[in-house]
Amino acid sequence: MPRTLASAPIMVLNGPNLNLLGQRQPEIYGSDTLADVETLCAKRAAAYGGTVDFRQSNHEGELVEWIHEARLNHAGIVINPAAYSHTSVAILDALNTCDGLPVVEVHISNIHQREQFRHHSYVSLRADGVIAGCGVQGYAFAVERVATLVGAERTEA
Ligand code: DQA
Repeated sequence: MPRTLASAPIMVLNGPNLNLLGQRQPEIYGSDTLADVETLCAKRAAAYGGTVDFRQSNHEGELVEWIHEARLNHAGIVINPAAYSHTSVAILDALNTCDGLPVVEVHISNIHQREQFRHHSYVSLRADGVIAGCGVQGYAFAVERVATLVGAERTEA
């Protein structure tokens, strides 16, 4: 049985350099900050009667430990692994310990339109869905998708 949004938050994880969102290459990633993205995710989760546990780390091992936490306590995972998407077998392996937990991968930019090395994501091998190139709005889509996958219905706009 999946955990419901009434009983567990959605873990929203952000990888390296996303703490600088809004300042970092705004021509690619836009001008919204990570705090703005947290507000966006919280609002969209609330529309489904849920909450988010929103975190960012520049360290691969910390992200791995947070995935282990989500495995036990969260309703699903939204993850923008940032550069670790393209390098991290450890994050893929951690996600593969989360049997039955919905996982949606987000990229703010369209990674397929960018350098060749960004076209492959290890995380996509486990993700139930992948959203790329929708700007920070992609996070709201991802939260919505996790909510849908755990059977939540939208109660507010
Ligand atoms: C990113 C794309 C990655 O290639 C990059 O390393 C990032 C952000 C995105 O959100 O578009 O840091 O995941």
